[in-house]
Amino acid sequence: MSFRPLPLTPELHAYLLDHCTPPDEVTAELIAETRSALPDNARMQVAPEEAAFLRILTAVMGVRRAVEVGTFTGLSSLSIARGLADGGRLICFDISEEFTSVARRYWKRAGIDDRIELRIGPAAARLGELPAEPHLDLVFIDADKESYQTYWEALVPRVRPGGVLLIDNTLWSGQVLNPQSVDDHAITAFNDMVIADKRVELVIVPIADGLTIARRLP
Ligand SMILES: C[S@@+](CC[C@H](N)C(=O)[O-])C[C@H]1O[C@@H](n2cnc3c(N)ncnc32)[C@H](O)[C@@H]1O
Repeated sequence: MSFRPLPLTPELHAYLLDHCTPPDEVTAELIAETRSALPDNARMQVAPEEAAFLRILTAVMGVRRAVEVGTFTGLSSLSIARGLADGGRLICFDISEEFTSVARRYWKRAGIDDRIELRIGPAAARLGELPAEPHLDLVFIDADKESYQTYWEALVPRVRPGGVLLIDNTLWSGQVLNPQSVDDHAITAFNDMVIADKRVELVIVPIADGLTIARRLP
């Protein structure tokens, strides 16, 4: 018997949220402030269950060196930073001072700002500042979709064997089945590229908008 995927109805999604560890006070306030202060952009924030997933995976992997591309107001970075092993560091790349000023405030409130370094500017250029050798345990990519392939090519060689790249929005509200816009095509081209990349093995987890988990092979 073949497996039938679950339809994630609003009711089932609400049940799922009720049975995941809830956001703590700082996280809940960051989510609320982003929704109230930036209503037009708030949908860019990772989903609460994805934030929990990022924290748990980071902790399970014992991550010491992580990179994020696309920080916005800081929910994913807060989650990754909280999961880091002792002495672990997260380098964040984003183009916006405005959005990341919110992130900085919440990192400080959570007491994890000393684990995070923020680099402002177009990530395609700034990723070249990272050491070229494979040294990263974890990468999270969640910025402009047209540059996903560029970020992938810059970061795969920098991930150690056994390390992981996480790429957000790879199911893209289902538009991968019917790509129309430039971003739709960017995501489908990215998915087609990475499935053919022999440097990794990967799975798309249907959490939130789809999250690709790619493990760097030895
Ligand atoms: C989807 S949001 C990231 C959401 C974030 N991961 C969170 O959990 O809240 C995308 C971010 O990518 C940033 N961005 C867009 N183009 C960029 C570029 N060329 N270089 C670096 N960051 C970029 C935007 O400023 C925005 O903050």
